[in-house]
Amino acid sequence: MLKEFQISLSIFLLFACGFLIEMTLKPRCFFSCTPIYKTMMKPENILKHDRSIVFLETTDQLEPSPLVSCAVESAARIYPERPIIFLMKGLDNNSIHLPLNATYPAFSLLSAIKNVFLFPLDMETLLKETPLFSWYAQVNSSAEKSWVHISSDACRLAFIWRYGGIYMDTDIISIRSIPEDNFLAAQASKFSSNGILGFHHHHPFIWQCMENFIEHYNGDIWGHQGPDLMTRMLKLWCNLTDFQEVRDLRCPYFSFLHPQRFYPISYPNWKLYYQVWDVEPSFNDSYALHLWNYMNQEKKAVIRGSNTLAENLHRKYCPITYKNLIQGK
Ligand SMILES: *[C@@H]1O[C@H](CO)[C@@H](O)[C@H](O)[C@H]1NC(C)=O
Ligand SMILES: *[C@@H]1O[C@H](CO)[C@@H](O)[C@H](O)[C@H]1NC(C)=O
Ligand SMILES: *[C@@H]1O[C@H](CO)[C@@H](O)[C@H](O)[C@H]1NC(C)=O
Ligand SMILES: *[C@@H]1O[C@H](CO)[C@@H](O)[C@H](O)[C@H]1NC(C)=O
Ligand SMILES: *[C@@H]1O[C@H](CO)[C@@H](O)[C@H](O)[C@H]1NC(C)=O
Repeated sequence: MLKEFQISLSIFLLFACGFLIEMTLKPRCFFSCTPIYKTMMKPENILKHDRSIVFLETTDQLEPSPLVSCAVESAARIYPERPIIFLMKGLDNNSIHLPLNATYPAFSLLSAIKNVFLFPLDMETLLKETPLFSWYAQVNSSAEKSWVHISSDACRLAFIWRYGGIYMDTDIISIRSIPEDNFLAAQASKFSSNGILGFHHHHPFIWQCMENFIEHYNGDIWGHQGPDLMTRMLKLWCNLTDFQEVRDLRCPYFSFLHPQRFYPISYPNWKLYYQVWDVEPSFNDSYALHLWNYMNQEKKAVIRGSNTLAENLHRKYCPITYKNLIQGK
């Protein structure tokens, strides 16, 4: 009897030790860690080549707006197998002490999604070993009137060069996955946006974009390092024609996706997102919807119970954000 007891005890201890060793050596944090542990992880451990989807916050703002939260949450849902990386300038290496409490509901909500990773945006490290670094080392950021945008234009190119994947603006709601790896998005015929783009890492097109960025740099012209840069480069790499029906253009090294894919509502009509529709559009030809937050100077918000297109999109594609962050009248 005593012997049996000893054997059972030994087996139990063996398992207990094994379990403890397992826990200590392999925290298995990849997709199930606590939010605080996730912010401590190094991006390099998460960024699998060409799989990441990246968002950027180049202001010091830490608490995302409901629309930003929706953009990130919807991407996390549409791409459950891919890491969703949100680089924030306002985070620093001490961000493990960031209070995850009711003061930062959106930050806390996003941190808790298993494939979302919030990391500090360290521009100097990101731009190292790219053509942009020499420009970055010289530019006086406080003298640049559009620094928030220009730094974002630079960082997205450097990130996609370094790691590959898809960059998205924080006012884009994902509704189905993009079936392309290498693509630019048309905002109109023969005109590219830089609000969403995808390329394999070390793609020569992105390298040349960075070279062109510094050769023709002019911080006084809005979009010169953004959509205008992508359009200049697109014309060098592709013989552009007008779109026929809803068909994408195939360039030799990437696709130029039809405006319906991301911009089914074009920017002069941006207010349509904040209106009530009799019959809402199906968006069958779209992968994601750009809500043109830049146009929204009057800060129209999504209001619970308003039945606007934007409210219904939030409810459907980012239900956690909708439930926790969208206020009623
Ligand atoms: C943050 O930490 C990394 C690695 O530990 C270091 O390379 C980097 O310079 C630090 N950044 C800041 C802003 O302190
Ligand atoms: C959240 O944390 C901050 C900083 O520690 C603190 O000032 C604030 O009172 C906390 N808020 C709540 C609701 O606990
Ligand atoms: C950078 O620009 C600011 C604002 O124009 C100016 O006050 C500052 O002296 C400049 N710094 C350098 C190093 O030129
Ligand atoms: C564009 O078309 C011209 C003439 O047909 C051809 O010589 C050139 O190689 C093409 N360029 C690209 C990038 O396809
Ligand atoms: C959109 O797609 C759905 C499902 O595939 C289909 O039922 C619907 O008829 C389509 N709508 C349009 C306008 O093509």
